[in-house]
Parts: sequence; structure tokens; C-alpha cells
Amino acid sequence: MTDRQYFARSRIQSHDWRQPTRARRVVRPRAIETSWHSRSQSSLEYRLVASKTFYIETFGCQMNAHDSEKVIGTLLAEGYERVDAPDNAHLVLYNTCSIRDKAEQKVFSRLQQFKREAGKGKLFGVLGCVAQQEGEKIFDRAPHVNLVAGSASYTRLPELLVQLEAGGKRVTGLSLDTDEAFDTPYTRRDNPHRAYITIIEGCDKSCAYCVVPFTRGPERSRTSESVMAEARRLAEDGYSEIQLLGQNVNSYRDSSPAGWDFATLLRRVAGIAGIRRVRYTTSHPRDFVKAIVEAMDDNPVLCDHVHLPVQSGSSRVLAAMDRLYTRDQYLERIEWLKTAVRQYAITTDIIVGFPGETEADFQETLDLLDAVEYDSLFSFKYSPRPNTAALTLPGHIPDEEKQRRLAIVQEKQRAIQIRRNAQLVGATREVLVEGRNPAMGQWIGRTSDNRTLNFTHPAADGLLGRYLDVRVTRSGPNSLAGEAVTVA
Ligand code: 5AD
Ligand code: SF4
Repeated sequence: MTDRQYFARSRIQSHDWRQPTRARRVVRPRAIETSWHSRSQSSLEYRLVASKTFYIETFGCQMNAHDSEKVIGTLLAEGYERVDAPDNAHLVLYNTCSIRDKAEQKVFSRLQQFKREAGKGKLFGVLGCVAQQEGEKIFDRAPHVNLVAGSASYTRLPELLVQLEAGGKRVTGLSLDTDEAFDTPYTRRDNPHRAYITIIEGCDKSCAYCVVPFTRGPERSRTSESVMAEARRLAEDGYSEIQLLGQNVNSYRDSSPAGWDFATLLRRVAGIAGIRRVRYTTSHPRDFVKAIVEAMDDNPVLCDHVHLPVQSGSSRVLAAMDRLYTRDQYLERIEWLKTAVRQYAITTDIIVGFPGETEADFQETLDLLDAVEYDSLFSFKYSPRPNTAALTLPGHIPDEEKQRRLAIVQEKQRAIQIRRNAQLVGATREVLVEGRNPAMGQWIGRTSDNRTLNFTHPAADGLLGRYLDVRVTRSGPNSLAGEAVTVA
């Protein structure tokens, strides 16, 4: 048995990975480095790379970014050390996105850069949505990959790492058959003010274009008790902003007997002492009920922003997409927000060039942008994804036409944002100070309605994480600029 295999085995026997990080990190012996060094003496290159070092790169959405925080926490708890370049890492991980083809290609181009490493001892792992989607095919396409695991298997990560360290060549975590959410005590958060909490994983909808139900599996809600405990812990640790995450947070349903729905959870999280801002993403219009708006109206801790992806302004296309709402039903939800007690920024996602989308359908999307006047939007060209229903629909649209429609949407929206942001000049808004741009002599703030508000303040340091009132003096399509009202 090699030293590494011995270490891997003894680790299984002697440590429960659920123990607190600090107690367990003590046991990381330098011996493992020695064993690795001695095994690799023929290569100076490998002697310089400490074993148990890892590098991770994350692609895709906020869910993925937060999954990576949990993966990093788990690896640190397992005694790994994080490095900031793949060249210095013994284990290189890519947490991948497959929402559109371009996102998927990124991981293969990264892996391509390292194909000469095959057989030299460096370990490569593909995590996340591409891993789930492509599965073991990844080993054939990139033979230097040793680990392929989807997000539903991250609870098994410590065990998968043991297999990897024991010399496993094709370690996989690909089962979607789980009713667990990735609920781990080890989360490495890099933002000291805003913390993300996953409340629901997976998705039970079947939008015709979307790969997520195949990559993230069925819906699993965490218990309200575990969400609340995590939120309280974060407040005690000094986080003042919490963002609740899920593919469809609106369908959150407490899996414990308390049975809270999403609106109840919002109210309770907003009531935690020390939490000043609560955000959530993402919503599905079908499950976005009035009780959510009522909860927001009742509690200003719930931020003035709703992201409500519409995808298309045409009821015909929405039906083809299997979105489960019509244009009018969507506009009814917008009306709730526009007539609410507080004013909410509304943002959305749009897909152009869905199969069969006619010029008239596209015009309906443009009309919708005028009707709603979104504060911001993300727009995408339809991208055919494996396994999805839309693949077999007739009327696929050429890329140039999708590109043309995308440019029109973006130009229209830019004009709307210029107009809407200009209306804020002269107003005062509270910002959470998130950064500093020394070159511009400005601080970077975020408003409750999720706008970036850059501002001047006499202080050159010490403002990060504070809440300040800022008067808006200028506006652009994507941000505002101003000066701090409170300078003490
Ligand atoms: N093609 C283009 N855009 C897509 N999205 C999801 N799947 C696809 C696809 N196949 C977009 C949707 C979704 C956002 C996260 O990504 O607009 O809301
Ligand atoms: Fe996130 Fe969706 Fe990309 Fe998966 S496919 S990482 S869920 S955006």
C-alpha cells in the first residue's frame, strides 16, 4: 500500500467529516507531502507542487458560485490548501455551467490547455452542470480528468476525494437520486458583507429550452430550521446582507412539519437581528404569488428588487416554451409590483430566437419591454441544449437572425435604462459600500434596488460594509454616480 493509499484509508476510519474544521485540520501530516515528493522524484515540476493543494475556477450562475464556496469549505476542512493558479495546484477543479453552448465549451477549452499533463500526477475534476450532463463521456474527451461530479453529489465529496487520492482514475458522482440539499457546515465565503444561502436545489419545471432539470435534478427544499440557523450564524458573524438562492425560490416548501412557504421564510429571515438586507433569486412567474409582494411591502429589510424572468412577450412562444403562464398573467404580476406600497426595481431574462419565434412574436417581446420598463435585463440567443424538448421543435432560427434580434433588444433596453436612471438624479439612496475604485477616487455602493451607485466621500478608507446615504448627481445606462450625504 502506498503512503497515499494508507493516508486515504486511515482518514476514512478516523475522521467524521462533519466534525468542526479546526479540530480536523490539525491532523494534516506533512508526511503526505513527503510521500508525494518521494513518489515524484523524477519530476522537479511535481516536487514543487505541494500535494493537497487545489485550484478552482467557477463558471455560470450565482448558484454555482455559492456551490463553489461550499466545495472550497469542504476541501479546506479535508486539509487541502487553496492556491490561485492551476500550475501550482495538485488538484484542479472546474465548476461548470451548461446553460448555453458557449458556457459549456469554456471548460473543454480550459481542459485542452492541460492535456499534456495526462499521466503526470496532477489531478483534474469537472464539477457542476457539464459534469452532470456529459457524465463519463468527459473521461473520453479529456483523458486527464479523474473526477466528474454533479451538484447533487457534493455531499459525497469527502468520499470522492478519498477515492481520488487513493489513485482512482475515473471517480464519479453522477446520481440525481437524492432528496438531500448540499447542506454543509463548511462554506468559504469571500464577500465579508453579503452571504448566500441556498434554500432550494433543483427544478421541477420543464421549460422546453432548459437543461437545468437534467443537471440539477428534482427540487429539494432545506428545512426552515436549517436555513434560519445558517442566517442567524451569518448575522452573528457580521454579515448584514443575505441572498437566498434557488433555481425557483418561489416554490420553496419547508420540508419540516412547520411547512413554511417562501413568503413566510422571507418574513422570518428579514426579522433576524443584524440582517439589514435580504435579496432572493431566482423567481418563476407561475409561482410568484401576491403573498411575496405583501411580505416585501411589510418589511423594508426585503430589498426593493424583484428579478422575474419572462423569457418572451408572446403567449404563443411562452406556450411553446412550456412556461406555464401567458403574457397577461405575467403582466398581472408586474401590476402587483407597480401598485405596491414600495417602489420595486424589476429585472428580467429574455431569450430571442426560440424555435418558431416569428417577427410578430418578437415584436410582442419589444412591446413588453416598453410596457414594463425594466430596470435591467439579461438577454440571450436561444441555444439548443441536450435532452431538452425544444430540440425537436420546428422552425430553428439562423444565428444571424438571433444576433439581429438580440442587438435590437439590447439597444431598446439601453434607452429604457438611460431614461429610468436619469429620473433618479437628485434623489438620495442608502447604499451598502461594497468597494473602492482608487483610480476614480470613488467608492462603490449598491442600493436596495440593486443599482450600482459610485460616490465620492472625503474618507479614503474605512467605509467598506457601512450603510451610507448618497445623493445621486449623475446617471448612465448601467450605473449612477453621486456624493455621500453623511460624511461623518
Ligand atoms: N438558451 C438561451 N438562454 C437560456 N436560458 C436558459 N436556457 C437557455 C437556452 N437554452 C436563459 C434563461 C434563464 C437564464 C438563466 O438563462 O433566460 O432565465
Ligand atoms: Fe447555474 Fe444553470 Fe449554469 Fe447550472 S446550467 S451552473 S444552474 S446557470
